[in-house]
Amino acid sequence: MDLKDAKSGRQKLDSALISGTLASLSGKWQNVEVLETVLSTNDLAIEKLASNAGVVAIVTADEQTKGRGRLQRDWSSPLGAGIALSIGCELSEFSFEPSTIPLAVGVTVVRALSTLGVKVNLKWPNDICFVADDGTLRKVGGILVQRTGDNIVIGIGLNVSLTQPELPTAIATSFLLEGFVVQRETLIAQIIFEIEQLANGTRSSWLTEYLNSCSTINSSVRVSAADGTSFEGLAKSISKAGGLEIEVAGDLVEVTVGDIEHLRHI
Ligand code: BTN
Repeated sequence: MDLKDAKSGRQKLDSALISGTLASLSGKWQNVEVLETVLSTNDLAIEKLASNAGVVAIVTADEQTKGRGRLQRDWSSPLGAGIALSIGCELSEFSFEPSTIPLAVGVTVVRALSTLGVKVNLKWPNDICFVADDGTLRKVGGILVQRTGDNIVIGIGLNVSLTQPELPTAIATSFLLEGFVVQRETLIAQIIFEIEQLANGTRSSWLTEYLNSCSTINSSVRVSAADGTSFEGLAKSISKAGGLEIEVAGDLVEVTVGDIEHLRHI
């Protein structure tokens, strides 16, 4: 079967390859809905959960035109060039503090990519980044976790083969631009498997890996508030709730939402 999109020339997602890879990984989460074009995979997963209590709803698409990112930003995924994946389930599938799920999911993406030979780091809370020798970060993906009642939807967006003009910001990158050819189907299946494994684990099953792969830890950072004020400090660790603990003039300050800027890594 020819899975090439005539207009873009890019390969469309091969759902049989996703299913086959999932079968070989032998997890319990085997059913993935593969769509051509969606507004937002997170929205679809939320809808599916609303009408099917207790299921694990997994949705991916070749193209996402109105995806949502963190902090009210947009996240689009051009046809055939990205991964837009959402996994919705009951919160009770996870056996650790819900507010830390966004961080832990970052670890699963790092793990999944390392099985394909791609090394990435995290920027708190869960940006997926390549790190240059001088400490500069280039963002290749992100995670948006939404809670609706007793359900949770985990949305993952990754720039697989986007070209420079297709990228939204100057600090964004894609695997292809970094020199990696990544098969989307394999990565999708591996991420699903890693998240299922994560759900069965405890906080200690991911925390050390998070701290080791998060470039924010031990970096000087600037935190800017919505009212225009800002402060600087040294990022030390992660709180019980998943906040970033920053040492400021000898005190520890916890940041729970928003974006931080890296200044220097020590
Ligand atoms: C970020 O802002 O860094 C997070 C981006 C997460 C986007 C993903 S793409 C798949 C899923 N569907 C959405 O609408 N958003 C998430």
